[in-house]
Amino acid sequence: MTLYHGDCLEILPLLDIRADLLLTDPPYSRVKPDEWDRIDHMGLVALLDAMLYAAGRLLSERAAVYVFCWPAFADKLAVLMRHHFHLLDEIIWMKQTESGKRQSWAAQAEIAPLRKFFPETERILFASKADDGKYWELCEELRGEIMAPLLDYFRRAKEASGMKPVEIQERMQVLTGKRYVFTRHTFTRSQWELPTREQYEAAASFLPLPRRYDDIAVEYVARFEEYTTSRRRFEHLRRYHEPRRHNFTDLWRYAPVMPGSRERLHSCQKPLSMIQDMITTSCPPDGMVLDCFAGSGTTGAAAKISGRRAVLIEKDRRCCEIIADRIAGTLL
Ligand SMILES: C[S@@+](CC[C@H](N)C(=O)[O-])C[C@H]1O[C@@H](n2cnc3c(N)ncnc32)[C@H](O)[C@@H]1O
Repeated sequence: MTLYHGDCLEILPLLDIRADLLLTDPPYSRVKPDEWDRIDHMGLVALLDAMLYAAGRLLSERAAVYVFCWPAFADKLAVLMRHHFHLLDEIIWMKQTESGKRQSWAAQAEIAPLRKFFPETERILFASKADDGKYWELCEELRGEIMAPLLDYFRRAKEASGMKPVEIQERMQVLTGKRYVFTRHTFTRSQWELPTREQYEAAASFLPLPRRYDDIAVEYVARFEEYTTSRRRFEHLRRYHEPRRHNFTDLWRYAPVMPGSRERLHSCQKPLSMIQDMITTSCPPDGMVLDCFAGSGTTGAAAKISGRRAVLIEKDRRCCEIIADRIAGTLL
């Protein structure tokens, strides 16, 4: 665990690391009364643009990126994230317990004076440094090789019939009464899939397809299993992603760390269990997490508990002292 005290824009260019996850919670822009949140929207755009550029250079090709923001800033952050990375999701963090109990300022809000809707959520923009293009390209090639005997069986039947694809398609629609694009899925390599029994039997009534559907289905299952096993050799080309049942969708429920609670160390502290879930979902077990706006060091504590390395940067001296004490006291 390494902690740097200073401005992330000055520290990032000095680092020589390869991080697997950028997980960071920047200022919100005039939401909190704290000094660090006095920055306006344009200032925050400039800060995050420079931070994403500098941090991006320290990320491995298959790294994931999470950046928190206040809902009113999400449109601007999305533009920045798209510019630097591949934006994948805009996660909504509902400040409720898992059972749906309201657990934020919204629980105490006075409704009558409101002139807009009360923010009970935050956004977490999720991105990848690169896309998984190479992985899918290799998988597609492998699938084509493994399924080749079945593809050839259908292709030979089409050639032997002398019919044009459009004629086959029209005949299939008459026979099945459905508009499924049989020719595209049965005769092309990239979109090939096993026809249903109904489709196969309709096609076999006018194309030379002598095999029984059950035999073909058994062969297909065996070949699909071979494909699933063989493609594991490409796994190192793929971004690590191991979500759990409670956070596999883009709507998350975690109770916030409310003022007055025993664990509260920072006005903007994130729930430890949420950060821990983000790390175990997106950072490989031997990986490294980078946080450029560390606050009270929740990312560091969660990384320590999860057995990942972490590099933290925080501008405020008092926060750095809190982080040092917190990490030292975090039990594994
Ligand atoms: C939203 S808080 C992070 C809270 C943290 N997630 C937690 O759980 O405690 C943002 C933090 O970023 C720090 N900060 C603001 N600008 C910074 C900069 N340019 N470089 C490094 N830290 C900065 C602030 O001091 C503040 O503690």
